[in-house]
Amino acid sequence: MGLNIRHTIAALPGSKIREVANAGLGRADVLPFWFGESDEVTPAVVRDAAALSLARGETFYSHNLGLAELREALRAYVAGLHGDPGDERIAITSSGVSALMTAMQLLVDAGDEVVVVVPVWPNLPAQPAILGAKVVRVPLAPDLATGAWRLDLDQLLASVSASTRVLLLNAPNNPTGWTLTRAEQQAVLAHCRRTGTWIVADEVYERVWFGPAQPADTAPGAPGAPAAAQARVNSAAPSFLDITSPEDRVLVVGSFSKAFLMTGWRLGWLVLPAGLLDAVGKLIEFNSSCAPVFVQRGGLAALAIADDFVPALVARLKAGRDVLCPALAALPGVLSGTPLGGLYAWFRAPGADDSLAFAKRLVSEFGLGLAPGAAFGAEGEGWLRWCFASQDTARLSQGVQRLRLALTL
Ligand SMILES: Cc1ncc(COP(=O)(O)O)c(C=O)c1O
Repeated sequence: MGLNIRHTIAALPGSKIREVANAGLGRADVLPFWFGESDEVTPAVVRDAAALSLARGETFYSHNLGLAELREALRAYVAGLHGDPGDERIAITSSGVSALMTAMQLLVDAGDEVVVVVPVWPNLPAQPAILGAKVVRVPLAPDLATGAWRLDLDQLLASVSASTRVLLLNAPNNPTGWTLTRAEQQAVLAHCRRTGTWIVADEVYERVWFGPAQPADTAPGAPGAPAAAQARVNSAAPSFLDITSPEDRVLVVGSFSKAFLMTGWRLGWLVLPAGLLDAVGKLIEFNSSCAPVFVQRGGLAALAIADDFVPALVARLKAGRDVLCPALAALPGVLSGTPLGGLYAWFRAPGADDSLAFAKRLVSEFGLGLAPGAAFGAEGEGWLRWCFASQDTARLSQGVQRLRLALTL
């Protein structure tokens, strides 16, 4: 009879990043920069809060939508960055990726059209594909003078029509570092209002932002905003939350993973239009039922230190970026931009036309672990992704020496 699972699932490609990482498994001499996480552990106060929760015996289910305290604290956090979202708009999820999948399950039927801007972290197009959607990829394009990737706004808008159910956007973007400008966001929002298309905005890197200040007229800390909001103005990338109203068909995905060094905790959230919480609660019930309480306690502790912790972390990440990107750009034949957001240098190197083969060779012969561009779709072929979130920038420099050697041999 055969193990006839759904064809769509059987056809899903395996992770090419894992394929490279598996080639280096167990080798202490490899410098690993392939995954999207820092080599720094979660802050002690966050770990302590979770440990205390467990010690108190908080080992039971929680509400589908998360602890009321955490939802309230997240509302205040979101308010500080983007203005108060209002009542009943936040759901806690067991990770950003689970928030994204929940959003897809909420909106997408088999056969629906979903437009995704690529290259992008492969989970984004895979999720609607799993649900049977028709996924249309709209490519960013590299500027061959600077290495920065740009959106052709006209092309994107031409690709989103009344038959497009969802537009899926990730900005700051993994892997390219591309970020929507405020003007682009406004144009996209206006267009999707006209076509009736939902926007799912993956903003998990919003705090990992090295870019310029937001214009004062659209910044959340405009006159009249609370002092806490004023203090945090400009510490996040442009967000759809800055320009949408609670009635807009826009879902914004957030995560504790990147800005609080909590990748292994699996904690995220959704900011939803008003009126969708019940439907999302049902979906969470059927997927994970709730995020673990002790993990949510960790999330609460993280939000309590956000004002001090996140800017200091971003300064450390920026130091990594500023060591790595110029060093890459100085290598012969290498094209590397300097991302305004995210954790990654994204670059093209001679000999990397088959990026998977090249990345495997970097691991096996040079002890350098990078993610192959092809992992992010055909649009990323020929490019490589390097996560610069290392506490020790000397490791980044050592990695660059290894790449230099690989390029000269
Ligand atoms: C673009 C993007 N979205 C979402 C996620 C999900 O993050 P998490 O599931 O750890 O919250 C990641 C993680 O790498 C990502 O790169």
